[in-house]
Amino acid sequence: MTHRAQPQPLIFERSSPGRLGVAAPKCDVPEQPLDALIPVSSLRATAPRLPEVDELTLTRHYLRLSQMNFSIDSHFYPLGSCTMKFNPKMNEIIAATPGFALAHPMQDDSQIQGWLAVLWELQQMLCEISGMDACSAQPCAGAQGEFAGLLMIRKYHFDRGEGAQRTRIICPDTAHGTNPASAARCGYRITSVKSNAQGCIDLEHMKEALGPDVAAVMITNPNTLGVFEKEIVALADMAHAVGAQMYMDGANMNAIQGQVKPGDMGFDVMHFNTHKTFSTPHGGGGPGCGPVCVKRHLEPYLPAPVVEIHGSEFRLNTDRPKSIGRLHAFFGNAGVSLRAWAYIRHHGAEGIKANSDNAVLNANYLLALLKDTFRQWSPGVCMHEFVVSASKYKAEHNVRAWDIVKRLIDYGFHPPTVYFPLIASEGMMIEPTESEGKETLDAFAAALKQIAQEAVEQPDLVRTAPHTTAVGRLDEVRAVKELNVRW
Ligand SMILES: Cc1ncc(COP(=O)(O)O)c(C=O)c1O
Repeated sequence: MTHRAQPQPLIFERSSPGRLGVAAPKCDVPEQPLDALIPVSSLRATAPRLPEVDELTLTRHYLRLSQMNFSIDSHFYPLGSCTMKFNPKMNEIIAATPGFALAHPMQDDSQIQGWLAVLWELQQMLCEISGMDACSAQPCAGAQGEFAGLLMIRKYHFDRGEGAQRTRIICPDTAHGTNPASAARCGYRITSVKSNAQGCIDLEHMKEALGPDVAAVMITNPNTLGVFEKEIVALADMAHAVGAQMYMDGANMNAIQGQVKPGDMGFDVMHFNTHKTFSTPHGGGGPGCGPVCVKRHLEPYLPAPVVEIHGSEFRLNTDRPKSIGRLHAFFGNAGVSLRAWAYIRHHGAEGIKANSDNAVLNANYLLALLKDTFRQWSPGVCMHEFVVSASKYKAEHNVRAWDIVKRLIDYGFHPPTVYFPLIASEGMMIEPTESEGKETLDAFAAALKQIAQEAVEQPDLVRTAPHTTAVGRLDEVRAVKELNVRW
């Protein structure tokens, strides 16, 4: 178990007048009154109320606060759909290299050839992994990649004279919320298709949903139940037969990178979540990078600028008349692209494949340990993640998935994703990633089994968890809608 975190006073409450954490050097230039240096209108009338603390108090205060947090460096983080894998420190060192970190985005192309080479190589590598023809790493999140992809599809249909007629996007009922949201942002109506008992898209229902007014079918493969859509080629054929485009949400590429290419499955456009698949510290809103890769017919529509190579020279091409335009300043979150480049270069083709092998192996090992305690949602082997349900504990002991995962915090584990996808009642979506060793997976499964036993014998203990944190259950909705971080 983790140590019990005590509520911490604020740094202001630790303040004591006259305490100092720094010893500033003596002034070695003639002193002048402030109003001789700064216009009086910009001077404050009263001194700011800053905390006055010594260095040790300051160090301990922030160290303790940092230890109250969960991070991939300190805890197992099986957050399904989010691929919270190990972030190699080497990537951070490379991203901090002065030649990269200190470059200014407004420098002339000739002065940032190294940066442009990295971005160009990343585009090439992502095309190779995805089986697509062209790429832009400008979108700064998976959701923005979706938005970019759908805008391209929209423009493509308009160029063919079918834009006004194609008003719908089809998403399965397992879709990540960003998929229908992105479609709606692009002005489309959304049709949801059902999943079958195997956790895959129901082909019959898809057939009924398809028609000449469909602009695209958006599919995550493997889907958010951790199941590979085996009929994907047939699905793509059906969509193409009515003139629709196939969009792949590539957030789950960690399961299939190096094994199979979305381009070969029939997709026309996809995005990667490099901040997941190719490791970058993420969460809490960013930073991310959601490159879009497309088949040749969509290349003219890629967000501008695109990095191109001319002879041995790299250039940013902004002269792209059919482009959907710019989605982000400069080159997107270039630091995240650089980390993804470093990660792919380090692992190479074999390493990338081994990662997905191990991600799938780890998930199946964990599923085998847990499936007698919690109901497996979809039958058979899983891909890189799986969903199990706590509905039995809710029905018999009024203990919900929500309670169970909160109790996991007391055992030193980050909760998995819960209640997603929406079709999985009392679902817990677990993604161990390839980074974790057998001991961690065993300990996690043992903790979940112990909690299941507690749910039967001491349900209140589980219902009121966590018990080892400085604060218990927060009103997460209010925290999002009415965030107040001022003291
Ligand atoms: C399946 C899936 N699609 C899309 C997204 C959106 O990605 P992002 O959070 O980078 O916008 C996620 C994020 O968790 C995801 O899991």
